[in-house]
Amino acid sequence: MLEGKLVNLRIVEKEDLPLFAEWLNSPEFLGGFQPLRQLSKTEAEKILESPLELKPFIIEKKDGTKIGFIAHFHVLHPTGSKLEIGYALVPSERGKGYCTEAIEIMVDYLFLSKDTMRIQACTDVRNAASQKVLEKTSFKKEGTMRKYLFIGGEVRDAYLYSILREEWKEPRILTRM
Ligand SMILES: CC(C)(COP(=O)(O)OP(=O)(O)OC[C@H]1O[C@@H](n2cnc3c(N)ncnc32)[C@H](O)[C@@H]1OP(=O)(O)O)[C@@H](O)C(=O)NCCC(=O)NCCS
Repeated sequence: MLEGKLVNLRIVEKEDLPLFAEWLNSPEFLGGFQPLRQLSKTEAEKILESPLELKPFIIEKKDGTKIGFIAHFHVLHPTGSKLEIGYALVPSERGKGYCTEAIEIMVDYLFLSKDTMRIQACTDVRNAASQKVLEKTSFKKEGTMRKYLFIGGEVRDAYLYSILREEWKEPRILTRM
């Protein structure tokens, strides 16, 4: 369990898979800026075994309510894989600072535990809330990836963001490991 002030991050366990699959299958949860897909629980479980090494964490409020997820995964590249994060919250819990803190916890965790120089994130150019949380957590916009996403029946441009280890320097929120 990774503990913050507002939320905790807890690795997705087998018993979370029905809820995780329900979220991934919900257009409302995905929020219009992520590819729509329909996954069975078995397929959701297989995501955890993919070569991307996807590791999703449930974002829980301090009372244990499950309000979303944040995941880290590898973007494969011949010169070595890159770490990327993705996240989403249930609509009723957005705008309360929870995702900002979840990203801060995840960045601390990844820089403390992985030998990586950078963590990246990618977001639809129209996804203002996602860009805001990345900027609030010290990610820098690197540029536009043209025609990178296929969402809602359209090809869309995406912004690539990153935070470098030297921009992080020390844990901002995660103090107990
Ligand atoms: C992106 C998302 C995870 C943000 O979670 P959240 O918990 O609401 O984020 P926070 O409350 O920490 O911060 C949101 C910030 O964006 C701002 N914001 C929200 N909607 C906005 C909009 N349409 N335009 C501009 N800013 C917006 C909020 O005001 C807040 O900034 P502030 O704290 O300075 O006021 C959430 O909106 C979500 O789940 N969206 C659907 C899934 C998604 O798009 N995931 C990202 C894929 S890259």
